[in-house]
Amino acid sequence: MQRRKIIIDTDPGQDDAAAIMMAFGSPDELDVLGLCAVAGNVPLSFTSRNLRIVCELCGRPDAKVYEGALKPLDRPQVTAEHVHGKTGLDGAELPEPTMQPQSQNAIDFIIETLRREPEGTVTLCTLGPLTNIATALTKAPDIAGRVQELVMMGGGFFEGGNITPAAEFNIFVDPDAAKIVFGSGIPIVMMPLDVTHQLLTTKARVSKIAALGTRPAQVLVEWLAFFERFDIEKYGSDGGPLHDPSVIAYLLKPQLFSGRDCNVEIETTSELTVGMTVVDWWRVSGRKPNAKVMRDVDADGFFDLLADRVGRL
Ligand code: RIB
Ligand code: CA
Repeated sequence: MQRRKIIIDTDPGQDDAAAIMMAFGSPDELDVLGLCAVAGNVPLSFTSRNLRIVCELCGRPDAKVYEGALKPLDRPQVTAEHVHGKTGLDGAELPEPTMQPQSQNAIDFIIETLRREPEGTVTLCTLGPLTNIATALTKAPDIAGRVQELVMMGGGFFEGGNITPAAEFNIFVDPDAAKIVFGSGIPIVMMPLDVTHQLLTTKARVSKIAALGTRPAQVLVEWLAFFERFDIEKYGSDGGPLHDPSVIAYLLKPQLFSGRDCNVEIETTSELTVGMTVVDWWRVSGRKPNAKVMRDVDADGFFDLLADRVGRL
C-alpha cells in the first residue's frame, strides 16, 4: 500500500497532540515528512516545545520539527491559554524535550518539499492558524499546484463560532491567511466545528483510551481531562469536542465523514464577523466551490480509530 506523504502544520494544543499521536500510530498508511509549529493556541516558543514533547512521547525523536510564523500576517496575536493552559499542553507532567527543531524554517521546508516531491503527492494537514501555509504560498505561488490536498481543521457554519459568535479560533487568529489559502485553488477538505462538535470526549470513549494501559495513552487521557474542562463548562456536554484528530482520521478512514463541495469565503473586514467562514452550503451564491466541507461524522468510529492508533505507539 502506498504510504501517503504528509506535512503536519500545528499549534499544540492537547487536541493537536492527539492528532499527531494518531498520525505516528499509523506508519503503514502515513509518511510524516515533517511537522511545522505555528503560533496559535500558545506562542511559537511553546508550540515548538510542545510539538517536540509529543514527538518524543510517541517515540519519534527522529521526526523533523520546523518552526514557522511567530504571529499572524497582519493582526495582533491571539492565543487560547484559557483553553489549553499556560504551556498549551497543561494536564500532564512531562520532561522538557531534548530533540531540537530543524535549523530550516517551516516556510522554506514547506516550499522545498513541495518543489522536490512529485507533483500531487504531498498532503498538507493543518491543525492551527494558516499563517505558515499562506506565507509559503505568497513566497512561492508555484507550490499551490503541487499540493495533493489540504485537509484542515477550521471554520464553522451551522455551528457558528467558538472564539466569537461568528468565527472559529484557527480562522479568527489569521483570517488574512485563511483568505489566501481558500483562494489558492488547492483542493481543500474542511473539518469545521459542525463536525468536531460531534466528537465529544465522553467518559465511555476516554475510558477505552485509558484501558490501553500504555504511557502515551495515559498522557493523552490526562491531556483530555484538562482540555475538556473548559468546553464542558461552556457547552454543558459530556466531554469536550476533540477537534484536530478529525484531520488525520479523514486520511485514514474518509468514510467516517460526509459533506459536500461548497464555496467558502472568509470575512476579513467586519469587526463583528471577522474570521467567519461563509459556507455556501445551499449553493445560492453562484460562486465556484473551493472546498469539500464536512458536516457529519461517525463519532464512535472516530474514537475507535483514535484508540486503535494510539494503542500502537
Ligand atoms: O477551534 C479549535 C481549533 O483551535 C483547534 O485546532 C484547537 O487546537 C485550536 O487550535
Ligand atoms: Ca490546533
